Formats: sequence, structure tokens, C-alpha cells
Amino acid sequence: MQHQKILILDFGSQVTQLIARRVREAHVYCEVHPCDVTDDWVREYAADGQLKGVILSGSHASVYEESTDAAPAAVFELGVPVLGICYGMQTMAQQLGGKVESGHQREFGYAEVRAHGHTALLKDIADFHTPEGHGMLKVWMSHGDKVTELPPGFKLMASTPSCPIAGMADEARGFYALQFHPEVTHTVQGRAMLERFVLDICATRPDWVMRDHVAEAVQKIREQVGDEEVILGLSGGVDSSVAAALIHRAIGDQLTCVFVDHGLLRLNEGDMVMEMFEGKLNAKVIRVDASELFLGQLAGVTDPEKKRKIIGGLFVDVFKAEAAKLKAAGNGVKGATFLAQGTIYPDVIESGGAKSKKAVTIKSHHNVGGLPEQLGLKLLEPLRDLFKDEVRELGVALGLPHDMVYRHPFPGPGLGVRILGEVKPEYAKLLQRADAIFIEELRSTIDPISGKSWYDLTSQAFTVFLPVKSVGVMGDGRTYDYVVALRAVCTSDFMTADWAELPYSLLKRVSGRIINEVRGINRVTYDVSSKPPATIEWE
Ligand code: XMP
Repeated sequence: MQHQKILILDFGSQVTQLIARRVREAHVYCEVHPCDVTDDWVREYAADGQLKGVILSGSHASVYEESTDAAPAAVFELGVPVLGICYGMQTMAQQLGGKVESGHQREFGYAEVRAHGHTALLKDIADFHTPEGHGMLKVWMSHGDKVTELPPGFKLMASTPSCPIAGMADEARGFYALQFHPEVTHTVQGRAMLERFVLDICATRPDWVMRDHVAEAVQKIREQVGDEEVILGLSGGVDSSVAAALIHRAIGDQLTCVFVDHGLLRLNEGDMVMEMFEGKLNAKVIRVDASELFLGQLAGVTDPEKKRKIIGGLFVDVFKAEAAKLKAAGNGVKGATFLAQGTIYPDVIESGGAKSKKAVTIKSHHNVGGLPEQLGLKLLEPLRDLFKDEVRELGVALGLPHDMVYRHPFPGPGLGVRILGEVKPEYAKLLQRADAIFIEELRSTIDPISGKSWYDLTSQAFTVFLPVKSVGVMGDGRTYDYVVALRAVCTSDFMTADWAELPYSLLKRVSGRIINEVRGINRVTYDVSSKPPATIEWE
């Protein structure tokens, strides 16, 4: 089944992905591509007749000051509606014959915008009305330059005292532009505006629904794989788990999962993964217990980056060895010819040259890039069109347990980066038990205001092992034991994060239980650092 689609051209704003998420939430399929695609590319993209509209994103630059990026001219010649947002509005104005001038003052933050002209985009959308009866919108602005002259054919759609042209429209051609950001939640009616654009103005069918997507994705996998065999590295994380469940649904025993247990997983995690996939889903899973190998190689190593490299490198080695065995032996006649990966859409956008790509590597993240070529395998990536929240919805639709699908992220190097300095088996055991208590209490403590558990109210929570000893007292005796730190953060993108304001009563219970139940730990601290300047993980 072919989906109608919206094309989002990325001019490098930090929030471009949010535009895509809002469009997908309206159940319309969309893709993000860099703004410097060619006219031919655009025409080719539209050639199947499924392209129903284009959105030009914001940028971190402004038209005159820093950027010379423009939209491919073809975008305005396709005969489909176009929505420009922030920089997207300015480039639209510039390219279609209007004027943009450098603002003397940056406008950043909350603004109240007056709607004009009863355009199809803003009609009946307002947060409040002035005594004179003007519809007003509460929005988020972030710009330096502004449009000072409308292009021919355009009329005024929105204004503020400091930005007289805060929105413009040429309704005959379906061109709309907003100086503010409808994609961020601070713009109260932003979702309604984007829905209005894609559903009404572009007249798309809202047919992007995860429940229905299962059948479609299964069909696609069957066509791609045929009667060949697939191997998949199962980590227990959300993406690889959902990919495994989906592929298993499609091709059953033609899939073999390889689960490399590096001994640095959470308490009982390995058993839970096996129980879920082998026990409940009846999938073929090879569990490789490589903990001795990993812990052996990590002995004496204290540098965080070295630890990451060792864990990442060994992981690839072990996986490769298993894959090679499977490739040779096969379950049927041919052996595996596909490697499946849980790549998701944000990974695709990032590697596709998005302008917002972060330039500096703060920590070298664990990945298995390059593996398919080394193994001579074809790549199967059934989640590469999906955002994380869609992957989760798909997981639920496939029958994976809610708790597994809505789990906090867990780093590839596992507890290896949560034991500061040298990783010792003894430390890993203490940390696993302390962490399990923390997570159990977060899950079972319900916030009375929201009705949600503290696990669901935080984005990531875990325990960190500090290899220092401190003095304590237990009964009549003196203790001299290790310290752990609890870490819990709230974030929407993991690029910045606030430490979570957990209730004292919860912290008290966790600390009491850890000190009483985990012999070897006599002190518990709570990390009150935000990111930046701290990172979420301690190493
Ligand atoms: P930081 O510590 O950089 O973490 O603030 C941001 C997010 O990334 C996760 N993280 C990793 N994930 N391999 C991963 O798969 C890694 O090496 C890695 N390091 C950090 C971290 O848990 C947080 O969610």
C-alpha cells in the first residue's frame, strides 16, 4: 500500500524532527530531507503523485546574517501546498519576490500573535480574543531577521507589534508561512495548525497508523527476504526487541537472534530476554554467555573511552563469530544472508546529512556500523522509517509487554560505564542489586497528582557504582563499604536533561533498602546535576 506523503526540508533547526513527529501524530506519513536536495531530486520524489505538500523548516541561521540556503525552486512549481516555518518563511519570501531584513533585535520566546485575514490555515484557531474581537495565538518565536515586504500575491496572515509580518499566505497557490514555531508545544495551537495544513490544506489521508502498519511491514519483510535467512543481534533494548518481534512475525524460523550477554546487563535481564523471545514468542535465540571474556579484557582498565572501545570491539567480535557460524551452517540449506538491525528514523536522518548534526563527539557511542559489509550480508532494517514513539506503538501492536516497550534507554556498554574506573565482577554484582531496588521502587511509587509511576515520570533512571569506601555504622559495628549514586533525569531529547525532583520519601525508601539489603554498600547519594554541564551517564 502506498502512503501519501509530506516532504520536510531541513534547514538545520534543532526542532525539525518535531515537525515530522507532529505530522506523523496526525497519522500522515512524512520524510525529512536536507534542504540542499536538487530540483531534479524534488521532481523525481513527486513523480509518483503521492507527494501532497512540503514543509520548509527553521534554521539556526537567518537569511541575511549567516545562511545562503534556499529551497529548491522546484518546490514552488509542483502545484502542492507549501508551509514555511521561521527561516522557511524567510526563504519563501525571499525566493518569491518579497523582502527580508536583518532584525536589530533577536526575538526569542513567548509572543502573542494576532491572526489576520481568515486564512484556511488559521481559521477558527485562537487561544483568546481581544476586546475588539481579534483572534490571538500564544506562540513561540525565535528569529533575528524578519520579512518586511510580502511577495506578490501574498496577504498578511499574522502579526505582532515587533514583527508586523509574522505570517503570510498566498491561498490561491496554497503557500503559507509562519514566523513562529508551530511544532513546539509552547505554541499552544501548534498541533492544530500543522494538522490543518496536512489534513485540510494538503488534503492527505490520515492512513499512517501503527496497528495497520504491522501487516504492511510484515508483507514488506516477506518480499525482501523471500526464503532466505536472517540474523539479528538482540540486546534487550526497545529497538532490537521490536525489530525481532516484527521480523519473527513475518518469517518465523527464518530468523535467528543472537543475544550476546556481556555480563554487564541489569539484574536478571538476560533471563528476561530469553523468556520473552524464546519462551513467549517462540523465536530462535542463541544466547552467548561472554561475560568472562568481557570482564577478563576489562580487568585493570580504568579509562572510560578505553572501556567503551573494548566493550564495543568485543561485542562485534563475538557477534561476528556467531554470525559466521550461522552463515556457514544455516538452519535450512543456505545459511544466513541478511543481517537485521533496529535502526530507527532519527539515525537515518542524522546520517543523511541533516544540517543539525552535532559536530563534536562527546562520548563514542557503541555501534555495529560496517558489520554487514565485513560479514558479506545484506541489511534488513524494518524500523528505519519510524520514530521512537512509533517503534513503541508498533511493539505494543505486536504484543510485546508494555513494561518492555516503554523501558528507559540502556547504553550499549551497559553497566561498564556505570561502574566508575575499573570494572570488577564484584562491583557489577553489587550494582545490579542496588539498581534493581531503585527501579523497583520507582515503578511501584505512584505520584498522586499525575497518577503515574515515578518510573514513567522520569526519562532515565539508574544507579552508579563509586569505587570508594566510606565509614558507616551498622548495629554496634563500624562498616567500611562502597558508595552508590542514584541518577534520575527528565528530558525529551537526551541532549539536555534536568535531574528529576523525586520525592524525599521515595529516596529515603530506596536508600534504606539498598543499605539494608545489599551488603557491601553503606552509603547512597543522589546526583543533582543537570545536562549540560554534566552528562546523563557518569562515564
Ligand atoms: P550522555 O551520558 O551522553 O547520554 O548524556 C545520553 C544518552 O545516551 C545514552 N548513552 C549510550 N547509549 N551506547 C549507547 O547505546 C553508549 O555508549 C552510550 N553512552 C550514553 C545514555 O544512556 C543516555 O540515554
